[in-house]
Parts: sequence; structure tokens; C-alpha cells
Amino acid sequence: MKIAPAASLVGDVAVPGVKSIAHRALLFGAIADGETTIANFGRSADTESTIAALRALGVSTEEDDVVRVHGVGLRGLRAPTAPIDCGNAGTLMRLLAGILAGQQGEFVLVGDESLSSRPMERIAEPLRKMGADVETTDGHAPLTIRGGALHPISYELPVASAQVKSCVLLAGLYADDGPTTAIEKGAQTRDHTERMLRAMGARVQSSPRQASVWPAETLQPLDIDLAGDFSAAAPLLVAAALLSGSELRVHGVNLNPTRTGLLDVLGRMGARVTVFNRRSVGGEPAGDVQVNAAPLVATEVDAKEVPLLIDELPLLALVATHARGTTRVRGAEELRAKEADRITHVVDGLRAVGGRITARDDGFVVAGVPRRLRGGRMHAHGDHRLAMLGAVAGLVSSEGVDVEGADAVAISFPGFFELLDSVTRR
Ligand code: S3P
Repeated sequence: MKIAPAASLVGDVAVPGVKSIAHRALLFGAIADGETTIANFGRSADTESTIAALRALGVSTEEDDVVRVHGVGLRGLRAPTAPIDCGNAGTLMRLLAGILAGQQGEFVLVGDESLSSRPMERIAEPLRKMGADVETTDGHAPLTIRGGALHPISYELPVASAQVKSCVLLAGLYADDGPTTAIEKGAQTRDHTERMLRAMGARVQSSPRQASVWPAETLQPLDIDLAGDFSAAAPLLVAAALLSGSELRVHGVNLNPTRTGLLDVLGRMGARVTVFNRRSVGGEPAGDVQVNAAPLVATEVDAKEVPLLIDELPLLALVATHARGTTRVRGAEELRAKEADRITHVVDGLRAVGGRITARDDGFVVAGVPRRLRGGRMHAHGDHRLAMLGAVAGLVSSEGVDVEGADAVAISFPGFFELLDSVTRR
């Protein structure tokens, strides 16, 4: 898809519901006692994978004005004879593994080519420590899980990962006695799981670096409303920050502070960030966000901050190409374990359109110049966030960008290009 240069972004928009929370509401709703409803559910290839996985496990869902999940209780999932296909969705595979570790039966989880190349020992190891029988395929999917009696553990996360933390905490619901604790030594990761389990009646104790879950008898179903996904709003906010004369507001965005690191980073680079109408949606902070363009300066991001903008780091690299001075991102080696290697591909992609950026093992260094990128061709490599990066790079370029594999946006945000087009002034 060819993305032509834009003059500015102007308008008022809303984005699909938070994908991370949608996966959780489906999965946790499936093991609750009774019907969970999810409003403002953002349909995407990833959330469809979760619905299909639940169907394979004997859980029915329906969609009218809301998505309804007919929960079967904590131990009610049925072992299918065929493997469960998690598609491209890491959140699905890793969280579901924690739930299946507490079920009777044998479960095989498979994924697409990208998901099958992502590290899975990180969840297998703590689940084995709890007593589950988990096999990976050379550290990857397919995963085989034979569930059974579990013991509580206290587990220091070797990587800053909300998916691993959530997997361990979910298995903790099934432990025989006492709290299961996940300790985050470096940086705090998103806490959607802790918030939702607490809202469903589970005993959860959490502080910024530690979360514990006690064994549960039941989970109460929820009626949950999803605010907009900050990671879906981010490409629009970044384009507005780079195109002077923009006036773009994204309404009803989830503003969980474990997700909004990009706003802090943009703010210290000089962008004008305004948040108004702060409110609570579905037990999480939300609000309306406006970002205005201003001359930007370089910044530094280190390991402690990385989880707070992990999915927005590709966009930050683009912002940095326009910000005067040298921007350094360190402690972000996890980017290599995402849907694609987001260090190599971000660096290659931005260099191909005129950016001055160099890869490091754990991040990148950008020499920013306050002028438009030239433009050219960028590849999505099957990764939705790289496809969106290419689109924003096109808008802020002088010659436009050809995005190869742009349809990857459907993984999280099928209507992305239409929404972007509706606010783009050329
Ligand atoms: C997610 C956690 C993050 C994030 C992913 C969604 C979640 O992954 O990158 O897009 O829903 O818990 P890690 O936990 O692997 O860092």
C-alpha cells in the first residue's frame, strides 16, 4: 500500500477496545461461573483466535451489541482431540497455558509461523516448577500441556513480561494452598490481569514490583466495557506529534499507567500532550488524548521504562528520526522476541526511507534531524506494528512510503487505514 505524504491530521476519533484486555476478558470469562459480557470489543485476527480457541475448549461465545462468553467454571474446560490454534497471538498462547496447567487432560497449542518462532520456555519453566507437565518444541510451540495438581511458587521473572507474569498468576488460581507470587525485579509490566482477577473476586495482592494470587474456588463473571487501545491510538498520536498544524483527539483511550510510557516520552521530547476527561472504564483509567506538534529534541529510554511503551518503541524510533540530537533506547532486547524482530526490522525499515538509525543488541541509536524523512519502501514482515509504523512514516515523509504487507494491520486493528485516511489532510 502506498502512503502519500500528509500535511496534518485533524479530527476526533475513537479506536478499537484494548486488545490485551479483550483476550483476558474472553479467557477469564471462560473460566468464570456464568455469563461475561464485553462491550466495545475490538474485533481483530488476534481476538478471533481467542474466540476460536475457547470454542475448541467447549466454551461458547455470541456477539450482538456486546460479546457474551458462557463461562464453564474454573475446571470446566474440555480437552479437544485436535491442537488448539493460537494463530499470531502470543497473549493467547501464554495466558491460556497458565489456565490449562490447572485442567485435567492433555492440550496441544500451536501457532502461525511467527508465533512458532517465539520463546515459550519462559512460561514452561515456571509451570513445571508448579508441578505441571509442559513440553515445548525446542523452546517453541507446539506446546503440550498435561494439567494436574499444582503447587504455589514464588517466581522472579527472568524477563519483564506481562504475559509470563499473567501465566504464572493464572496457574496460581489452581494451586493447592497459599499464594503464587510473580516478582518483577527490573521493571513493572502491564497489570491488566491483576485488576481483572480482583474484579472477578479472586484474592490478589499487588504492589508495583510484585503480584500474588491465592487459589480460587470460583470466579465471578464480569460486565466489562473496554476503552480504546492505547497501542492502536499511538500511531495516530505520533503522526499528529510530527505534523505541524495537526489537531487530533483520540477519545476514550485506556490510560493504564503501565501502558502510557509513550506519552511521558513524547512530553519530554517537547510534544504538547493533553489528557482530558479522565475517567474510569471497566476498572481501568481512561481519558481523551490530544497531541500537538512542536519542535522535538532527543531523549533516552532505559530498561526500567521499556515495558511501559514496549509496543510503541517502533513508533518512538520514527519520532526520534525527527527529534534534534541523539536518541538512545537501551534494555529493549525483548523487541527481538515480538511478532518479528522489531530491532532489526525497525532499523532496516527506517534506514530505507532515509532515517539515521543504528541497531544495538538491546535497542537502537537514532541521529535525529528536524525534517521530513525522504520516503521509499518498508516491509511489515507480517507484523501489525511494523505495518502501522510504515503508514505513519509515509505520512511524515516527503515522497511517501510503499508499505509491503500492509494487511498485517488486521492482526490488531482491521480498520486502521480507513480511520487514518478519515483524519488525514494532504
Ligand atoms: C501483552 C504483553 C506484552 C506486549 C503484548 C501484549 C499482554 O508482551 O508486548 O503485545 O497482553 O500481556 P510481553 O509480556 O511478552 O512483554
